[in-house]
Amino acid sequence: MRTSVTVDTGASRYEILIGRGVWADAASWDGLPRAAHAAIVSNTTVAPLYAGRVAALLQARYREVCTVVLPDGEAHKDWRTLDLIFDHLLAHGADRQTVLFALGGGVVGDMAGFAAACFMRGVPFVQLPTTLLAQVDSSVGGKTGINHPRGKNMIGAFHQPSRVLCELDTLATLPARELSAGLAEVIKYGPIADMGFLDWIEDQLDALRERDPAALAHAVRRSCEIKAQVVGADEKEAGLRAILNFGHTFGHAIEAGVGYGRWLHGEAVACGMVMAAELSARLGLVDRGFVARLESLLQRAGLPTVAPPLGAGRYLELMRVDKKALGGEIRFVVIESPGRAALRPAPDALVREVIEARCGAVA
Ligand code: NAD
Ligand code: GLY
Repeated sequence: MRTSVTVDTGASRYEILIGRGVWADAASWDGLPRAAHAAIVSNTTVAPLYAGRVAALLQARYREVCTVVLPDGEAHKDWRTLDLIFDHLLAHGADRQTVLFALGGGVVGDMAGFAAACFMRGVPFVQLPTTLLAQVDSSVGGKTGINHPRGKNMIGAFHQPSRVLCELDTLATLPARELSAGLAEVIKYGPIADMGFLDWIEDQLDALRERDPAALAHAVRRSCEIKAQVVGADEKEAGLRAILNFGHTFGHAIEAGVGYGRWLHGEAVACGMVMAAELSARLGLVDRGFVARLESLLQRAGLPTVAPPLGAGRYLELMRVDKKALGGEIRFVVIESPGRAALRPAPDALVREVIEARCGAVA
């Protein structure tokens, strides 16, 4: 059960290989950039599980293989941790051909990708995503970067990987809360692009939560197909690509507002999608039934749908530094009709109403 999806941005073209046993298949590694040196970038949780296996596979192809192990967590997606990668590369004789292998979830992938974009002005990298979220979203499309205390993913670069190898067997060790966080990004593709896929997720949600291999394979493949199509049409987010940020304007404010790492990224996106759907309803674009359907599916997936009570003023302050904001005007991804999304400004008063309607009580 192996599939592949091609990402073609015009400037670069690469394969996402998806399935069980993808890493073990020697052909998956054929044709990667040649170099004397490869560096695995991982973290304290994932390295003990998988770095030995990956190092053995790479040793057959690269003369030198080193591994840098980062502290785990969104709270470490910062300059200090990024510097650990550069320190390690320089200490281990990396050169401008060195290939980085990002082994982990979205945090490792975003940081290793950003390190690859910057090190010696750019080296190749390969994504080895080990969370559902990373397999369906963050490993694909070349957005890399780190957080700033004032805003999520504020510092970064577009840098496409040479390949993405989604080994579905790694999902067996993923904690249930992290699996749910990944399901948020899977569900996201329905309202923005494919309501047929949303029907399928509703039908297969129990199988997905039980990690049924066929259900997971389909979810990863369809998600990657949709993302590849969007990224292929708009790599640098001049327009269309923004739809992939459905729920992220509210979600990023939640993550930064409560402190990075307290809400998982997927959890914040889940709650943010309900808020963005609520905004779409208040703009008269979708009906209440659509909002209720999305909320109920997210709850079934084990995800939060009640926002933390940061106060409307604080939400607005955080959202004004969102990367989609222009000239101080916040722009939201709204659902124009089920299966179709667009970027739009919204009056502050309406956004306040949404926040007040969707926030929990102050503790
Ligand atoms: P994560 O990278 O923090 O991983 C979640 C947790 O699971 C971590 O503790 C990790 O160590 C652990 N883990 C990873 N794989 C495991 C496995 N197989 N078994 C056991 N434990 C495992 O979180 P995430 O949800 O993967 O990624 C979230 C990040 O991705 C956020 O920083 C977000 O901003 C970013 N993101 C980026 C993009 C993009 O396009 N670049 C898109 C979406 C999200
Ligand atoms: N996850 C949003 C994007 O890749 O554009």
